[in-house]
Parts: sequence; C-alpha cells; structure tokens
Amino acid sequence: MIDFAQRVDTVEPAAPLVMSNLVSELTEQGQDIVDLSVGQPDYETPEEIKQATKDAIDAGHTTYTPSNGIPKLRRAVATHLNERHGLDYAAENVIATPGGKQALFETVQAIVDPGDEVIVFEPVWSSYEPMVTLAGGETVRVDLTPHEFHLEPALDDLEAATTDDTALIILNSPVNPSGMVFSEGAFEGVRDLAVEQDIPVISDEIYKELIYDKDQPSLAALDGMKERTITISGVSKCYSMTGYRLGYMAAPTDHTAQAGKVHSHSVSCAPNFVQHAAAMALTEADTDAIAGEMTEMFRRRRDTLVDLFADRGVHIPVPESGFYAMIPVDADDDMQWCKDAAREAGVGLVPGKAFGTPGYVRASLVDTEDRIRQAVDRLATEGFI
Ligand SMILES: Cc1ncc(COP(=O)(O)O)c(C=O)c1O
Repeated sequence: MIDFAQRVDTVEPAAPLVMSNLVSELTEQGQDIVDLSVGQPDYETPEEIKQATKDAIDAGHTTYTPSNGIPKLRRAVATHLNERHGLDYAAENVIATPGGKQALFETVQAIVDPGDEVIVFEPVWSSYEPMVTLAGGETVRVDLTPHEFHLEPALDDLEAATTDDTALIILNSPVNPSGMVFSEGAFEGVRDLAVEQDIPVISDEIYKELIYDKDQPSLAALDGMKERTITISGVSKCYSMTGYRLGYMAAPTDHTAQAGKVHSHSVSCAPNFVQHAAAMALTEADTDAIAGEMTEMFRRRRDTLVDLFADRGVHIPVPESGFYAMIPVDADDDMQWCKDAAREAGVGLVPGKAFGTPGYVRASLVDTEDRIRQAVDRLATEGFI
C-alpha cells in the first residue's frame, strides 16, 4: 500500500474531465452526444503551423533546449505581447512552459507559502484553487455572481477580501467559464489595490485574442503593474494548438528566476519542436485572421445559444469573448444535473459547482450552430429547461 501525501487528498480531479470522461463512455456505448463540455476550439490547427512542426522535427529540433525556452521563441513572445497587447517585455522576462497551466503552477509554487491567502474571482477557473492548495495556501473568493459575473461592481468586495496574509491575486479575463471581459475600470481597481497593498497579481490573459467587441487592457501595461504582474498566456486557444502544450509567463526577472527553478526541476523545458512551431505561429502566422475567424464563429454561436434560451425564458449573462457561457439551471446538485443531461438528453455540459457557482452549468460553444440548436431542443424536450 502506498501512503499518499495529504496534499493530494485535498484536491479533486478536474470536473470538466469527469464530464468529458462520461461523454466518451456514453459515446462509446453508441449514444449521440452534443459535447459542449470540452475547453478547446473545434478549429483545425492552421496548416502552416502544422507544417512548421514537421519541419522542426525534420531539422532535428528534438533535443532538450535551454530551460526557459529557445531565444527565438522568447523573443517572439515578448514581441507578440508588446505589439498586440501594449506591454513592455524583453526575451529574458519570458519562460516558455508546457501549456499556460504549467506557467500558472510554477508561479503559484514560487509565490505561495503555507498559510498564505490567494484571492480569486467566482466563477473561477477550476484549476486555480487546486494549484493554491497544493502549495499549502488557501483561496479567498470574491463572488461576481450578483453582478452578472462583472468585476467592477465588486471592487469593494475585493478590497474587503484582502488581509495581511494575502500573497497573490489571480485575475483571469477574458474569463473561463463566464466569457466575460472585465472593464478598464475593473483593471484599474485591481491595480490601485495591488499597488497600495503591494500584492503581486497573476493576469491570465490566455483568451485575450478571442474578445468580440470590447477593449481590454493588459494588466502589466497599467502604471505600477509591470513590476508586480505575472502575465500568463499561450498558443492553445488563439491558434487552436491545445495539444501542443505550449504556454508562457512574462514577468519581472526576479520572478522568472524563482519560478524558473520550479520549471527546471519539474519539466526541464518545453518540447523543442513545439517551441519552434509556436515561434513560427507568433511571428509568421496571420494572428488577426486565425483568431478573428474563430472569434466570429464563436460570436454567432453565442448569439444562437443566448437567443434560444431567451426564447425559453432563461437569461444567460451574455458572454463577451471566446467560447464559454454560463447557463442558469434549476438544480440542487448540478453535477447530477449534468450527468442526467448527458445520459437522458445527450448533451455534455460542466457543473457550475466546479467553478464555485452552483446553480449554473458551463457550455463550451465548440460545435456547430445546428448542433447547439439540437442541444437546446433536447434539453427542453427532456425537461431540463
Ligand atoms: C483560464 C485558463 N487559463 C489557462 C489555461 C491553460 O491552457 P493551456 O495549458 O492549454 O495553455 C486554460 C485552459 O483551459 C484556461 O481556461
């Protein structure tokens, strides 16, 4: 018998994965499921990026690389962030990681001590809290549900949530799971508090290229924030490269020095040929065209979903980006509701409980408008809405 560490007992497997496992099981049994549970675009990785990947393998880029990443990629990330998001980073501010998730994990490991508090906003992406728990910290949640998932009206609650033990704020906008894009006023409010109380902030901006109409600043571009912000992003969502596992952090070099230790002792480096493909995507691919096409596709689906639910008297807080929406449901146990919806209506969704917002389910708009229509019809026919 293995005597497992207490820290792994304190976290659960990711709920979105529980649902996608159930969907796979039902599909294997022959059931047709409209799967709106997965967190990745249904968009083919662009041909030129796939070709660059094959070329990189053929060119022999199959060895380890410098731990923080190949210089070409680190430069490409800095240029991408500076030119597209108004930031001011150099290559030495960047660590390329196997997925943005690893950059988040390393950052939390580098900053959070046992007993520290980390502020997150509900609905909250389901991996932040386990990362904090695994580091021995505790999350303090600021609930955005009363404000249709917007942050600006909750800035007083944010201030009230800070204590002497606050070690970090994790800001994620555009938001997974609500699709909201926080306002400039919200970003400024976070900045004012972080500067006044000298708190570092993770700004997870991985969906930033998929915003529909609004403008959103990058946190590190605001006065006083560059020295206390860890910007997280990656190529997973905006180039539809989720399986490549390539993300990054951009941060002050004192942070990359510390997080870089966790990085070198855990993963050594991101995969070599993947780094070459990502560098090509960031420097040569037409980011506006690729992300723009996806954004338009998701916006049409968003409209379809919101309208279909409105026709049935259900108000969905209208997403402003990407491919997620939070749907209010009438359920005491939303995990059970989601399992029943998969089995009885053939629709895969993720329970809101996974994001700290029971009473909602998350839909990923990663199937066609016709299939989304079919999903809503099936939920209605089977009495779920
Ligand atoms: C909010 C958020 N941050 C970070 C990530 C990590 O993405 P990846 O590890 O694929 O770069 C995800 C993935 O779903 C996400 O939703």
